[in-house]
Amino acid sequence: MKILIVGTGYVGTTTGLIFCEMGHRVTGLDLDECKIQALQAGKLHFYEPGLGDLLTKHAAAQNIYFTKRTKEAVEENDVIFICVGTPQNSDGGADLSYVKNVAEAIGKYMNNYKIIVTKSTVPVGTAELVTNWIKKSQEDLIPFDVVSNPEFLREGSAVQDALNPDRIVIGATSEKARSIMKELYKDFHCPIVETNPKASEMIKYAANSFLAMKISFINELARLCDELNINVNDVSRGIGLDQRIGPLFLRAGMGYGGSCFPKDVNALIQTAKENGQPLSILESVVKVNAEQPLYLMEKIKDALGGNLKNKTIGVFGVAFKANTDDTRESASLKLIEHLLAEEAEIRAHDPIVKMEKEHQFRTIEETVTGADAVVICTDWDEYKNLDWASLKSLMKQTYLFDFCNMVDKEKVKSIGFQYMGVANH
Ligand code: UGA
Repeated sequence: MKILIVGTGYVGTTTGLIFCEMGHRVTGLDLDECKIQALQAGKLHFYEPGLGDLLTKHAAAQNIYFTKRTKEAVEENDVIFICVGTPQNSDGGADLSYVKNVAEAIGKYMNNYKIIVTKSTVPVGTAELVTNWIKKSQEDLIPFDVVSNPEFLREGSAVQDALNPDRIVIGATSEKARSIMKELYKDFHCPIVETNPKASEMIKYAANSFLAMKISFINELARLCDELNINVNDVSRGIGLDQRIGPLFLRAGMGYGGSCFPKDVNALIQTAKENGQPLSILESVVKVNAEQPLYLMEKIKDALGGNLKNKTIGVFGVAFKANTDDTRESASLKLIEHLLAEEAEIRAHDPIVKMEKEHQFRTIEETVTGADAVVICTDWDEYKNLDWASLKSLMKQTYLFDFCNMVDKEKVKSIGFQYMGVANH
């Protein structure tokens, strides 16, 4: 089957290359000249482990090619995946202008029956909007179907997630579209949830919101555990082994970030408000998440004597999580903002992210030199087994705030660090 992917961000590029793995021919379309040039040269314009190898493999085998030519791309392909961005509006809702532009271009250039699939995270009712946008821009009445088929992959493990999904959700209204979509996914070994487009769109928001809720739940509980001197990791394990709860996304830390959870939870809250049915649980999820970096900054401030002015803080990790160069809504950057507002001096490190500001240092050793405290903000493997004894000798004071609960606390304490995690008692 010939597949067109519109939008070559991490979702679009991963989806396209995974379809190549499944034996399909793929065209990647983007209006951004730089992205297309990079991809044509076999280079990813973002960091995603394992994806570069797939690009090299399928570009060499001519299973995938990249173009800026919308008309030819639409004409030549049967199934068109919309994978463009849906940024957040000022009211918290999703901005669908990119999706609309794509739908209108598809309508304009459509030459025979097509299936148009929304892969981007789009609000409930978007499939209907896409249908109308396409119809309006069609010159001839050529039949088509719009399908919702949300993506559940994570940055940093996109290839593995896309190759081994827990489920595939297909929201379609026509039997023809449904059977073509199932044919497309026939080599994946997981349940397929068949439903209508609206429910499919809701599944995506509900999944991300539920996961964000688990994180805010454990983070707020961690604050109580702090008061009661309880290890929250033991609590996560103790409840996570209950199959009804599950062990994942119960890691207490700095709060969720990234391009998805913050935006999607807000968009669902906005949909709920617009429909007169507020989702108060999710409003609390957002509140707890916004408080978490501030709560942790206060912990640092208390430990350092109630004043951070001219205190030097080494920050390990600025990406919103490990294995990505993405800093969107990064809790680490939020903590840095709070620390700077308290007039602390920041020395930051990240193995991949390049910061624009003057605060970044190249090596871990430079980052901790003269520091009063080190704060681990991103769970990069690099920070797991450091030579803390020699790092200690470079520091002015020996406070270690492990907000990823990832270092061996007994070991660092025995070296002489004043250790504090997130309720890691
Ligand atoms: C998330 C979802 O996990 C994917 O299923 C979804 O497809 C994607 O959004 C999307 O909508 O495109 P992603 O944002 O890449 O994926 O990252 P996650 O691994 O889910 O992490 C999100 C945030 O939660 C990170 O800041 C992470 O550090 C934090 N987190 C995660 C915790 O604080 N605790 C946990 O236990 C797990």
